[in-house]
Amino acid sequence: MIRFFLFIGFSLALNAHAADPHGLTLDQWIQQQTADSIHSMLANMSPADGIPGSVIASPENDAIPYYFHWVRDAALTNLTLLHLLEMTGGPEQDGYKQKLFDFASFSALIQTTAGLGEPKFYVTGQPYTGPWARPQNDGPALRAITLMQFMNWLIAHQEGDSARKTVVPVIQKDLLYVRDHWRDPSYDLWEEVKGDHFYTRMVQRRALLEGARMAGPLGLDGPQLAAQANLMSNEILKHWDATRGYFVATLNWTDGLDYKASNLDASFVLGILHGHTDDGFLPYTDSRVLQTVQKVIDAFKPLYGVNAFAGVPGVAIGRYVEDRYAGENFNGGNPWVLLTAAMSQYLNRAALEFRMSGNSRSARQYKDLADEMILRVKYHAPADGIFSEQIDRNTGFMTSARDLTWSHTEVLEALAARAADGLR
Ligand code: NOJ
Ligand code: NOJ
Repeated sequence: MIRFFLFIGFSLALNAHAADPHGLTLDQWIQQQTADSIHSMLANMSPADGIPGSVIASPENDAIPYYFHWVRDAALTNLTLLHLLEMTGGPEQDGYKQKLFDFASFSALIQTTAGLGEPKFYVTGQPYTGPWARPQNDGPALRAITLMQFMNWLIAHQEGDSARKTVVPVIQKDLLYVRDHWRDPSYDLWEEVKGDHFYTRMVQRRALLEGARMAGPLGLDGPQLAAQANLMSNEILKHWDATRGYFVATLNWTDGLDYKASNLDASFVLGILHGHTDDGFLPYTDSRVLQTVQKVIDAFKPLYGVNAFAGVPGVAIGRYVEDRYAGENFNGGNPWVLLTAAMSQYLNRAALEFRMSGNSRSARQYKDLADEMILRVKYHAPADGIFSEQIDRNTGFMTSARDLTWSHTEVLEALAARAADGLR
């Protein structure tokens, strides 16, 4: 146990001039990057040639076709937008709120043009009909999570009527889909493996539990949703592999990519973050969670050239060690901005949980590790603040899809967690 608290040997002493390619202090960079990432995120929402409420994954559309509305990316983006709405009292409020209504309307439209497990749509609302990894059943769960939080915000601001008209019907469909289909095998968030996935189950579970808590205004049967969520908890715990000492990504493989021998995946960290709901299930400081996170860091540290750069703190994190996807080709995996940022967010949340439980020593350690991860993101961040999907594993420069919306939102969430950890 102690071993996990001490974490691992990569921890470099933090010093003020490490990783400072633009001559900015960490605080200066955070301020600038926050503005840049909000700007990119908003620019990728409701594109001029699309229906309001659509969100492009990235403006790239040629070599790497990312100019589409992915249900997952769009739901996560709108969740971050909602967090911004909650934090701002300024004149942006109305614009953010309108965008969330647009997202709800666009979602209502695409719920009618294809099955709910359909992952990817044109910005005009038609489903992408080429060959693809489908269904992806994390999408409806994530969309329900986002829209339920928006519904709560609206109710708290005396706009329950508009919530009932535009938002509630979308949530109802998504939750009933999750309730009835969570046992079906689906493709994972990386659109590669068909089976039962830790990430997908975590967000499905959260959606149903939060749906159960709001069953009244949603007009749904709360105990019935909660019962399914509880069954899901048992299935999630089956991902714990005591021999390997980590939660494996996929059980009951049925199709798709078959070379992920380790079954260890950084989507675990996303599952813990995006699936978190305050019911005490798999808390950030659960020993098995800490152990899995450590395995993820240990796996990526020796894998990428960038992680051997002298004097650069933290560890750049990729999807899984066997990954071959580099954007335009399959010549080897790279670290991802969003996963390195998510690691920082996770470490800050663990630090806060340690602190609440009175373990201030571990809290401090995790806090420092979280900052090393954010310094790592800063090191690779381009001066114009525009993140791509990936970081070249050897050169450290941005690569793959340019200006990836999800990179920006995950960085914003990491910076918000850093500010909210109560340790500064
Ligand atoms: C293969 C990648 O591994 C996957 O993650 C991606 O979503 C698709 N190609 C589409 O770009
Ligand atoms: C590839 C990622 O694997 C997937 O999760 C994502 O939805 C798409 N890119 C679009 O960003």
